[in-house]
Amino acid sequence: MCGIVGYIGDKPAESVLLVGLERLKYRGYDSAGVAIIDDGDIIIRKSAGKLRVLDEILKENPVNGTIGIGHTRWATHGGPSTVNAHPHNDCKNKFAIVHNGIIENYALLKERLIQNSHIFKSETDTEVIVHLIEENYNGNFLESVVKTVSQLDGSFALAIISEYHPSSMVAVRKGSPLIVGKGDGENFIASDIPALVNLTKRIYYLDDKEIAVITRDDIQFYDFSGKEIKKEEKNISITDKLVDKSEYEHYMLKEIMEQPDIVASIIRERISGEEILFNKLNFDNNYLVKIGRIIIQAAGTSWHAGLLGKFFIEGFARIHTEVDISSEFRYRNPVIEGDTLVVAISQSGETADTIAGLREAKSKFIKVLGICNNMASTIARESDAVIDIMAGPEIGVASTKAYIAQVVSLFLFSLYMGKIKWALQPEDINMYINELKKIPEKIKEIVDKKDEIERLAEQYYNRNNFIFLGRSYNYPTAFEGALKLKEISYIHSTGYQAGEFKHGPIALIDENVPVVCIATQGEIYNKMVSNIQEVKSRDGNIIVIATEGDKQIQKFSDKVIYVPNTIDILSPILNVVPLQLLSYYIALKRGCDVDQPRNLAKSVTVE
Ligand code: F6R
Repeated sequence: MCGIVGYIGDKPAESVLLVGLERLKYRGYDSAGVAIIDDGDIIIRKSAGKLRVLDEILKENPVNGTIGIGHTRWATHGGPSTVNAHPHNDCKNKFAIVHNGIIENYALLKERLIQNSHIFKSETDTEVIVHLIEENYNGNFLESVVKTVSQLDGSFALAIISEYHPSSMVAVRKGSPLIVGKGDGENFIASDIPALVNLTKRIYYLDDKEIAVITRDDIQFYDFSGKEIKKEEKNISITDKLVDKSEYEHYMLKEIMEQPDIVASIIRERISGEEILFNKLNFDNNYLVKIGRIIIQAAGTSWHAGLLGKFFIEGFARIHTEVDISSEFRYRNPVIEGDTLVVAISQSGETADTIAGLREAKSKFIKVLGICNNMASTIARESDAVIDIMAGPEIGVASTKAYIAQVVSLFLFSLYMGKIKWALQPEDINMYINELKKIPEKIKEIVDKKDEIERLAEQYYNRNNFIFLGRSYNYPTAFEGALKLKEISYIHSTGYQAGEFKHGPIALIDENVPVVCIATQGEIYNKMVSNIQEVKSRDGNIIVIATEGDKQIQKFSDKVIYVPNTIDILSPILNVVPLQLLSYYIALKRGCDVDQPRNLAKSVTVE
């Protein structure tokens, strides 16, 4: 949700900033801009539209200079227009700022600043910050920033440059993520690590309420009172292979295709012989054995993984588990007792709603387990213990490989809890592990059939509505299939629990609505077949995800996508894969921007 970069060194800032923004565009892409100090003057170039528009503007009208800041935006306050694009400047163009987050008290501040004769150009909350800095400036850059942040409510990551101080830039973090990269005679600011790939491996994670003052050769850190603090340098090992599209047209397809390897590597990391390893988990077994209730809270696709987590935890460890949407959990004053564990699932680890849920739990002295793909994220750092899902950077806005990695991680954690709670026999655990070990090869079989799914997409891409049905372990798969389709193809689609469908939604059925039914072999297979027949007898157009070898299902369906057989409880991991591919190809055929769907951003850092 908005990407920030900053550069100071001896290279042309323009090109370094563009490279960084290109890597961060998954965080927002409705407008972009840079501010560079060129011969003592701040020059701003910005535009509504994708980064390539800014790229064109800079090609026609380049800016020289070796210090600058850049931004790629996901609009919150003020629509996605050129005037609302960042950077923003003060009345005299002495300061320029880029911002990720939300200033909650901006309306009051703006009113007061206007009374003090400040002239605003945009409708953004961000612009108040730069006018406040202008007002608070007393010759000392840091002091004016320290005073300004004390006047702001909300969350913000900021990068600021000033004509008064052409050899330094300031980075600020409260709530929204920000890192500082250390180079040789050059330094960087970025919202996230991918922006710094190939630029530096040495980074500092800014913590909440910290400020960095950065010159070419030096980085000093301060707290919000302006007191200097020391921070530890970290080394990152991310390679461009992980953040490049390789031979694929889109990140989404690349990430779908990576899934067999990701599951295989989680298994390698977490299973040794008959043991499930969570040895880096910061909870000891004496604590885990006493857990009496679990509340999972998450958003979007991560919430769907949480819905499966409930099946796994209750099934394996017999611990009562609830699953909440973070934005609801956070405001409903949940009843939580001492033996409850709250689990926060988040790919990015920066989702504002999920962070708020985590803090709600901690305010009630409840322990939180984070399940994250970014171990440097806010959720990973604020949780009492963290499970790294090890999916590698996910760049496509629609989550695919992270979902599968979350589900596999939850599956293994639940088995681990089942063992600790003596709720599972060792032979059962071994059976589940052995079945899980076969999953990577089976996902591979499905992704290898992508051409078949592309042909199916060809027949359905022009429909206006889709319905997804699943039961038991696969109703979350139906929800996830519907979310994938709607977010990247803009086709209206909804997932239902198939048994619930007859209680109203079945009225939606006619021959124009494709109904994707997940009917792989398992305990409720016959019930699912009955539900399919209910739809068929009302002229529904049925696409079924079925287990290889199931011939009878063809009688009730218009199309069948076959997936390999597995045990019921692992079937969601396989069944979601054709749905990801179907969404991908439908969106592609509709001419949609698959990796950057409209109105969305990869990491939703506002509530
Ligand atoms: C959908 C998608 C979103 C995210 C949601 C939570 O494809 O990616 O629904 O799952 O915004 O994000 P994280 O997992 O980063 O907390």
